[in-house]
Amino acid sequence: MLSERMQNAINKQINAELYSSYLYLSMASYFESIDLAGCAKWMYAQTQEEIVHAMKMYDYVNEAGGRVILDTIEKPQESWDSPLAVFEHAYKHEQLVTGLINDLMNLAIEEKDHATQIFLQWFVSEQVEEEASASGVVNRLKLAGEQGLFMVDKELGQRQLPIPMPQEK
Ligand code: FEO
Repeated sequence: MLSERMQNAINKQINAELYSSYLYLSMASYFESIDLAGCAKWMYAQTQEEIVHAMKMYDYVNEAGGRVILDTIEKPQESWDSPLAVFEHAYKHEQLVTGLINDLMNLAIEEKDHATQIFLQWFVSEQVEEEASASGVVNRLKLAGEQGLFMVDKELGQRQLPIPMPQEK
């Protein structure tokens, strides 16, 4: 059984994951507006992954005898100065999320909640991957410069979507 404190903290993280999804969807929309379809696709995959993260937590709270309470999702930023600025923001955002996951783990340790510690381990590893994939794109964009932007866009367009988009079915 989850303590109320642990339950509330995971509920807060569900909101943070849904906000992440919303932020990446806003980034996708920005890329659509400047005709970088590959970058937009990369962001759609990211959007979907964040919903999966939120749902994993949602299921866990229910399974552990808690109650999910959904809160307002903050409005995401809607435009950026350049494609590089978007991915730099994405990388910074993932670093922030890593901090939130670490805080949750620290709370689970403090509460001697072993089940939640085991549950959160997946997220600890996932954050290593999340940071690496965003910073990888930042580095590729820096190397490619203006001229190589379309090649990077094409490459990012190869990313598989966890859930196919309606036009792809
Ligand atoms: Fe849910 Fe991108 O971390």
